[in-house]
Amino acid sequence: MSSMEFNRIAGAILLTLIVIKVADIAGGAMGHVAPLAKPAFAPTGLAQASAEAKPDGTKADAKADAKPVAIGPLLAAASADKGKSVANKCTTCHDLSKGGKAKLGPALWGIVGAKIADGSFRFSDALKKLQGKWDFAALNAFLADPKGYAPGTKMVFAGIKNDGDRAALILYLRSLADNPVPLP
Ligand code: HEC
Repeated sequence: MSSMEFNRIAGAILLTLIVIKVADIAGGAMGHVAPLAKPAFAPTGLAQASAEAKPDGTKADAKADAKPVAIGPLLAAASADKGKSVANKCTTCHDLSKGGKAKLGPALWGIVGAKIADGSFRFSDALKKLQGKWDFAALNAFLADPKGYAPGTKMVFAGIKNDGDRAALILYLRSLADNPVPLP
């Protein structure tokens, strides 16, 4: 091996090691990126649903490219059985049975179509000032992103981001009533 050849090979190895080290440092730095305060992407349908649902008429800041997903077709494709299992995420805080008592959150029997923040539970001002009813669009928007829909709500829950899961859950909630409200 000529010394020039040796130098080339040694140089190549050194360069490789430097590249690996730099990637390592960069990778390490990337591991410490602070979590986003808000999700970078709004769940599909949320912008449209909350634009429809906000009782004070303020439009949600819908992105022009956000794909609008109406709750109607989602509900038509949903299964209440699936929704029942999604509802396991709620039962730590909510009693879903008829005549249920408040837990950490209010009882939810008959919630679909009911007045928002009604009853003896000590609701936050955030929820009280929403006013109106828990119609399908309002529930869809609230359950996708509780804090986004009702900033300051006491409901410490990240939301159900999956459109299908959320629709199934709402369909199941609708069934928890003496006279379920008609589907939209
Ligand atoms: C960590 C506890 C917790 C979990 C989990 C939780 N909630 Fe809540 N929820 C609350 C609290 C507390 C409130 C009252 C919020 C307020 O006053 O701001 C509430 C309020 C609500 C309301 C408004 C009720 C009304 O009468 O206006 C609905 C609807 C609701 N929750 C549905 C759900 C559903 C559906 C789930 C499951 C996907 C869920 N919540 C999960 C604690 C929770």
